[in-house]
Amino acid sequence: MTDRDPNEPMTEEELHHIVHLPKVELHTHFEGMAPPAFIRGLAKEKKVDISKIFRPDGSYDYRDFWHFLEVYEAATSVLKKPEDFARLCTAVLEKSAENDVVYQETFISPDFCGGGDVGAWKEYLHAIEDAATAAERDFGITLRGIVTCIRHNGPDQARAAARCAAETAGGFITGFGMGGDEKQGKQRDFAWAFDCAREAGLQLTTHAGEWNGPQEVRDAVEDLGVSRIGHGVNAYTDIALLEMLAEQDITLEVCPGSNVFLGVFPALKDHPIQKLRDRGVNVTISTDDPPFFHTTMRQEYAALAKTFGWGEEVFRELNATAIGAAFCDKATREAITKQLERK
Ligand code: HPA
Ligand code: ZN
Repeated sequence: MTDRDPNEPMTEEELHHIVHLPKVELHTHFEGMAPPAFIRGLAKEKKVDISKIFRPDGSYDYRDFWHFLEVYEAATSVLKKPEDFARLCTAVLEKSAENDVVYQETFISPDFCGGGDVGAWKEYLHAIEDAATAAERDFGITLRGIVTCIRHNGPDQARAAARCAAETAGGFITGFGMGGDEKQGKQRDFAWAFDCAREAGLQLTTHAGEWNGPQEVRDAVEDLGVSRIGHGVNAYTDIALLEMLAEQDITLEVCPGSNVFLGVFPALKDHPIQKLRDRGVNVTISTDDPPFFHTTMRQEYAALAKTFGWGEEVFRELNATAIGAAFCDKATREAITKQLERK
């Protein structure tokens, strides 16, 4: 498929059309989608003082990725009961639907939902799933959950997360993944957890190649056997690895706004997403933790269209790639594919 000529100015009408296209989003962190006002409201209700994580303008306040992880955990600390996560689910799906997202996958961590206890996890999950079912009816957005271990919490906690995932695999829970601090430990330290999830029929993804280089992406594929990679963008310097990703049909969950906001690349024009596409790697677009990175899916589409001159056909191709790589069953994939055909 040919891209439009980036030298030709894009009309306002064209841009408006692109920004409002139906979208598939594969890489979001459930708590990371929480608007700061929602978290402040819960903190007030529960009389928890987390005022230090907010700037005077009300947005989340942090210095860098590692401080972000601390602020993230402080924000998440006010989500104490299954009911709190149900309210979060409704709030975030309404926002995603406002951005024309018709299908979304989100990372949900047993570490925050019962601490790895299977019985407690099931209660949290039921509450989230009920809220997601209501949101599908009310807002027209379909959600699937990827149970996620947290790398800096270590392999033992990851094993507990994998057991929770295995016990609830099927239906709403379709995948297993890993987020957290990529600088701690190795992908292979988590092989037991990923094997456990795979044996339970779950599809696999892990954060790799956001902060570490191409070897991390190679490790993710070779040591954990994932079919998708969270970010993976630092693979761009290793041509042999790009060939391997293309050959093995691995899909990258690229979050351009997140990468720029956190300083992985200085500006969107320096982001390797076009290079990755040119090498035949499957790429998709997501927001990661939208309020933390001051982005939305509509903003991502607008910025990409303007920076790379991508026309409607490129975004339709990105969405086709995303639904093709989605961790959902055949019937869901077919239903969403129909929704994506909307003009
Ligand atoms: N990256 C890695 N781990 C995370 C993130 C993220 O953006 N959000 C929450 N945990
Ligand atoms: Zn992420």
